[in-house]
Amino acid sequence: MDYSETLGVKRESLKGLGTRPGALQLAPAETTSSAPVIPEYLHETYYWAYLNPRNVRRLDREWVVRTILWQQHNRLTRAAITEIKPGQHVLQTACVYGNFSLKLAEHVGPEGTLEIMDVAEVQVRNCRRKLNGCEHASVRHQNVMHLRDETFDVVCCYFLMHELPDDYKRGIASALLDAVRPGGKLVFVDYHKPHWAHPLKPITSFVFDTLEPYAKGLWREEIAEFAGSDQRFAWRKETYFGGLFQKVVATRKE
Ligand SMILES: C[S@@+](CC[C@H](N)C(=O)[O-])C[C@H]1O[C@@H](n2cnc3c(N)ncnc32)[C@H](O)[C@@H]1O
Repeated sequence: MDYSETLGVKRESLKGLGTRPGALQLAPAETTSSAPVIPEYLHETYYWAYLNPRNVRRLDREWVVRTILWQQHNRLTRAAITEIKPGQHVLQTACVYGNFSLKLAEHVGPEGTLEIMDVAEVQVRNCRRKLNGCEHASVRHQNVMHLRDETFDVVCCYFLMHELPDDYKRGIASALLDAVRPGGKLVFVDYHKPHWAHPLKPITSFVFDTLEPYAKGLWREEIAEFAGSDQRFAWRKETYFGGLFQKVVATRKE
């Protein structure tokens, strides 16, 4: 079914990109003045979760995110936030359900800035509503793949990578690395391949096979590898909850 008219958005076809390495990097840049294209993976796989306005209202609750993340959401939020200092210029790469952005904005504080970017207009509007009154935080309608000539102290990519096709994982990792100023950090928090005996591995595997077709890319390949193990950065990784989750921090050398 073609939802593009219902949504009032243009669509971007990624078909065939797997056979054309580098094609994503050649995609035309989008300016903030024109609406970004909804990528096909988002439209086809996650319409119900992120684009359907009724479900956005239903799912945007802390308890929903905590349940999906096996009660690890607070811990993982802290793991991300601990990499950021108050007063820094921070990019959050997509909207997140619940209070994540508000916590990040509070932590950054009025001496800093939090810029959130999301490719879906319904998410942008919803996040602006949640941040209402927070003057140092703003939400931009943009595909983070098409960042241009902007740098941040910290770029925070919270549970976005597992939702991207592998080619897109590479393209976004590369775009985000370029957006980190010397001395700054790119922080990924996301799924990771759990220990083989992890009691939640079978159910996680089932959920991925059913609802999250790109997530197992993070079981097959390290995030640093998706980012080309870029030597301008020092890489470190920590895992959580029996290896089901990971934080990867790339610190840009001065
Ligand atoms: C951050 S991820 C999922 C986070 C987490 N599972 C949660 O609780 O929301 C979902 C968001 O990523 C956005 N998104 C997906 N691809 C994007 C892209 N290329 N650029 C910007 N935003 C993107 C979607 O529109 C959606 O709002």
